[in-house]
Amino acid sequence: MNGPQGLSVEAVVKMKQAGKKITVLTAYDASMTKHLEAAGVEVILVGDSLGMVVQGHDSTLLVTVDDMIYHCRLVACARESALLVVDMPYHSYTTVDMARANAQRLVKEGGADMVKLEGAGAVLDAIRAIVAGGIPVCGHLGLLPQSIEELGGYRVQGREQAAADKMVADARALEEAGASMMVLECIPSALGKRISEAVTIPTIGIGAGPDCDGQVLVLYDLLGLTPGKRPRFSKDFLGEMPAGKGITEAVRAYVEAVKTGKFPAPEHGFK
Ligand code: KIV
Repeated sequence: MNGPQGLSVEAVVKMKQAGKKITVLTAYDASMTKHLEAAGVEVILVGDSLGMVVQGHDSTLLVTVDDMIYHCRLVACARESALLVVDMPYHSYTTVDMARANAQRLVKEGGADMVKLEGAGAVLDAIRAIVAGGIPVCGHLGLLPQSIEELGGYRVQGREQAAADKMVADARALEEAGASMMVLECIPSALGKRISEAVTIPTIGIGAGPDCDGQVLVLYDLLGLTPGKRPRFSKDFLGEMPAGKGITEAVRAYVEAVKTGKFPAPEHGFK
């Protein structure tokens, strides 16, 4: 699938070197993609969070590669300026061969520029193989929604010294394996800073403090659409808009808040 080329991976990496904050948001369809790009979002993530916010499951575990390809194509059709990252869903990269084949499908059929995998350790060989095949990779450390059963629920990761040290080592290993970027989810703000200083590739935080190189939110949280309790690290930007302002303005407020260091504020972080 060939569409317009968005921002390059190299350009995003250079933003870290230049000290410019990177703005990332999830999207799952064409209309939202247009709002995000109109507001200046640099990276769009077709997250497997779609299993929860679009499909209505209580985790991301039931999302398939075909689901991700479908939603990625909807976003790719509308994308003009952003880098397009797609999640590799649960059990789509358990072997190196599966990882390589599924990453190729997400790029060829879905139109993604980059694929995202959760974890380090056992996943490093898959990352090396995908990168060797010419597909850029984004890592994901901290709270790993695809390992929610092993982690015992949605809770802050890396609070103990040993776990924090291991996460720093994992971040370095991801960079060595060829990852070009990594998401850090739900970790103490001090650890987000430590990891961001330990690697040369951009870190994109979600509940990882203000010192990450960029920030990501699930779009439905930013728009106040997520039913029930909103995660502490998110913010309903649309709900805070003056009357008459809509989705593009709310996303623009997020972009501006990230760029100026106003988001995330201390109350969105963890100790
Ligand atoms: O699936 C997703 O939306 C994600 C973000 C929370 C980073 O991985």
